[in-house]
Amino acid sequence: MEKADYQATLARYDRYVMHTYAPGAMFVRGEGAQLWDAEGNRYLDFASGISVCNLGHCHPAVTAAIREQAGKLVHISNLYYNEVTPKLAEKLISRGFDGTVFFCNSGAEANEAMIKLARKYGSATGRNEIITMIDSFHGRTLATLAATGRAKYRQGFAPDMPGFVQVPFNDLAAVKAAVTDRTCAVMLEPVQGEGGILPADPEYLKELRAFCDERDILLLFDEVQCGMGRIGTLFAWQSFGVEPDVFSMAKAIANGLPMGAIIASRRLSGVLTPGTHASTFGGTPLVSAAALAVQETFDRENVLENCRIQGEYLMRRLREIAAPYPFVRTVRGKGLMIGIVLDREPKTLAGLILKKRLVVLTAGETVVRLLPPLVITRAEADEALAVIAEALAEYAAVLKSDESEK
Ligand SMILES: Cc1ncc(COP(=O)(O)O)c(C=O)c1O
Repeated sequence: MEKADYQATLARYDRYVMHTYAPGAMFVRGEGAQLWDAEGNRYLDFASGISVCNLGHCHPAVTAAIREQAGKLVHISNLYYNEVTPKLAEKLISRGFDGTVFFCNSGAEANEAMIKLARKYGSATGRNEIITMIDSFHGRTLATLAATGRAKYRQGFAPDMPGFVQVPFNDLAAVKAAVTDRTCAVMLEPVQGEGGILPADPEYLKELRAFCDERDILLLFDEVQCGMGRIGTLFAWQSFGVEPDVFSMAKAIANGLPMGAIIASRRLSGVLTPGTHASTFGGTPLVSAAALAVQETFDRENVLENCRIQGEYLMRRLREIAAPYPFVRTVRGKGLMIGIVLDREPKTLAGLILKKRLVVLTAGETVVRLLPPLVITRAEADEALAVIAEALAEYAAVLKSDESEK
């Protein structure tokens, strides 16, 4: 991109795009785990558009499916049948959870659908309260914000929508203490993402499942970030061996086209009836074709196995690399959802890493977050490790000189 075009693009952002984000680099092209910025510099992408491009950028099978469907039928509305959407639903259901799917466009919208389903289910017995977790993140709409346990996101948007109670994560006693005769559901992320890459304890989930069954309380999993292969199984609950009643997904489901979905167990399939919930764009033929190509790619390529292998390798090597640095508390996560947990804010270290052309994210108040495409090679993992090792050494030197100036 010419320098003048680059400056003009920044100026347009500044004047015409609402300042709800503070973007870093400007990218013009992607392929697999690689990105190129406006000046032609190559980056390695360990963010995947926040766990969206899980098959890497512009995966050829997904691009081909989009091209083909775009020439046939893009949108028709859910008032009419199309042949692609039910094929996708069938494919998702064939992965080991018998139920039905509702399609929408985003993670927040999927969680809204899940919340509405739970309230509708509870309405038969006069129950409408949902227990959620401290440090959770469920989206930016008013209901999902009220469900979100990270209070800072709610500031300025009062009043909170009623009907949500937050308790500490991984604490069954806290759930039990918060349950009332108005509780209709418990909702959580099997691995908390925005909160700081914190996996649920499998025993906690098992006991929570049994407790919810005892009390006829629905167990809702938000798999928007940790689902779609991210932690080494297609659905996150499969990694824990605990089935929810309903779970949501979005982000990576169509590898970059906007789609969200919930899957409800078959016994709940009749809770939302015609006219009780809808979404104009939910599951268009175009996006469904992309999502179907994603599922076929999972079948054809060893994506999940690669995720587990590269995830274990990265986690082990990161722990070794970080060991000499006291400002790194721990490295935690599951599959290719990895957090480098610091004893301080993570933005400075993430900035140093980005300068070395490795795209990473932060999470919570102290975590550098890695969400690489699930298709990364060992060579790409090694390239990222070398960058992180350099950045850690540099950051240690900065901290030391700051210390000696005091
Ligand atoms: C766990 C979780 N739920 C919901 C959302 C909201 O998804 P969206 O931004 O697509 O609305 C996110 C987004 O980061 C998420 O991580």
